[in-house]
Amino acid sequence: MEIRIHDIGGYILRNYVLETPLGWIGVDSGYPGGFSRYRARFERLAPLREMTFVFLTHAHNDHAGFLAELLKESGARLVLSEKSLPRLAAGENILPEGTGFISRGARLFSSLMKSGAYPPVVPDGSALVLRDGRDQPFLDLGLPIRVVHLPGHTADSIALFLEETRELLCGDAAANAVIAPARHAILIEDAAAFCRSWDDMLALNPTRIYPSHGNPFSPEDLVKYRRYLDDNALFPPKRL
Ligand SMILES: [Fe+2]
Repeated sequence: MEIRIHDIGGYILRNYVLETPLGWIGVDSGYPGGFSRYRARFERLAPLREMTFVFLTHAHNDHAGFLAELLKESGARLVLSEKSLPRLAAGENILPEGTGFISRGARLFSSLMKSGAYPPVVPDGSALVLRDGRDQPFLDLGLPIRVVHLPGHTADSIALFLEETRELLCGDAAANAVIAPARHAILIEDAAAFCRSWDDMLALNPTRIYPSHGNPFSPEDLVKYRRYLDDNALFPPKRL
């Protein structure tokens, strides 16, 4: 079954959309205020009403910033982790106790993260709320797309694994942009969980990994940078 990955975003923030025989699946939204640009880019591919699902990798402002608008205008069903619900309802980035940044430079983003307000989202009855790996809405529909839970960057981080091509859209469970050394996210809520999620990604034996930030990369990079966190303490956020 052919499932095609398109990217209608940019280097710093990808906007993957999946073309499937059952309609389009949008992966995340983007920063608040970005909807009209997103819509224009998507509609070069298809009318927005053909978006059947919006999959949320996690509730940060650069992923959920115009989620409310996207859902309303597309009529798509939201697919999300149940752990995203309180975060989306708050409409701002939550930095739980223990959250840290990967470098001193990355910590400069603290203030940006903290001012990360966006229109809150309270999913309607059509939303598919996932508790754990047993909930597989796409597989249930006959689409060879597995939802994978990859906590660490945030507790609610989930990803999509295309089973036939073994391509992994990992959200922020890894990154490959200039600000992210060694494929790590710049912000990590739980370093141990983050490392376990890398093991889980490798266990999938992916052919290619598509992060939300930066360029797609080979899973060999995960092996190469696997130990990075062992020797590098996280930098706690500045007093906010
Ligand atoms: Fe994030």
